[in-house]
Amino acid sequence: MSAAAAAQSQAVLSCPLLDWFARHARDLPWRRDRTPYRIWLAEVMLQQTQVDTVIPYYERFLARFPTIAELAAAELGDVLKVWEGLGYYARARNLHAAARQVVARSAGRLPGSYDELLVLPGVGRYTAGAVASIAFGQHVVAVDGNARRVLCRVFAVTGDVTRSSVQRELEELAVGLLPCGRAGEFNEALIELGATVCTPRAPRCGECPLAGECQAYVGGDPEPLPVRRPRRRVPHYDVAAAVTLRDGHVLVAQRKVEDMLGGLWEFPGGKREEGETLPECLAREMREELGVEVKVEEVLTVVKHAFTHFRITLHAFTCQLTSGEPSCLDCAAFRWVAPADLEGLPMSVADRKVAAALQAAQGQAPDLPLHGNPS
Ligand code: ADE
Repeated sequence: MSAAAAAQSQAVLSCPLLDWFARHARDLPWRRDRTPYRIWLAEVMLQQTQVDTVIPYYERFLARFPTIAELAAAELGDVLKVWEGLGYYARARNLHAAARQVVARSAGRLPGSYDELLVLPGVGRYTAGAVASIAFGQHVVAVDGNARRVLCRVFAVTGDVTRSSVQRELEELAVGLLPCGRAGEFNEALIELGATVCTPRAPRCGECPLAGECQAYVGGDPEPLPVRRPRRRVPHYDVAAAVTLRDGHVLVAQRKVEDMLGGLWEFPGGKREEGETLPECLAREMREELGVEVKVEEVLTVVKHAFTHFRITLHAFTCQLTSGEPSCLDCAAFRWVAPADLEGLPMSVADRKVAAALQAAQGQAPDLPLHGNPS
């Protein structure tokens, strides 16, 4: 293709897309202020989470940590606390670690090039491209799941979109469309179109600025694209957790930072193994994790929770310590805390529900000592 023909085919798609975006872009908090830190934070939060869920977290996070320097100076626990409920906590740990790097190496200024961004913890091809183009005006693409869907449909790409070779092919197609001097706008426009018009189910092709050029639309059936290999069935685990009270305080443990949900606090326990009852499982876990023997008493609550690759049913039992004093054999830390102070610790959604059940049970029966052993 000649340079002129390439420029023309680029313009055929990018011009109507940019015009559409100018008229239909949603008014979102990260579009009001293009400070690199704010763009970076938004893109990290948006990686696995819907816009509506992100907005209140984004605003709270910035109110608490308005600059990279303030984020870097914070304790990880305080960052996790503000992130609590948003999920994928590695994002918060990486953001915090990256902020510390940026402060140590470049006086709190986020690097402006794609390649330098890419080496920061938690920054992959998508995030580096989004920050470099939106905050720094670099001529690079940022192709997320929404943009991939649009590109698969427009170019009738039928490969499995979960494969990295197909993702690279889509990035190449996006590079071919990138308008000079407007890469950030183009990237956001493609994402916006995917999020609001070119949706997974029932796309609104009648409102799409690219419909006339869209091979899937012209072919009559855009919905089956993109193609992805069928998801594997997610396994289910039963997990037991101990709510152990003593002198009005409950025993909680902090997960090791390198583990899933690392840095969060939990009611200690773990996965049931084959052939074990839940009380046997809990007694074993308390021995392995904290070096104590417990008597497992009653079920306090049962919570179901779905993670990306598995589901759990968390069975929380009231327990009594029968021997030993806790020590951290397989956790980052442990504490005895007043139930009212659990609110201050970062916890996963499932453990937070157990904390709420404990407070509700104590509210109904304040001396449900939960068998607190005055000692
Ligand atoms: N999803 C990922 N990045 C986004 C952005 N900048 N605006 C809206 N949704 C997004």
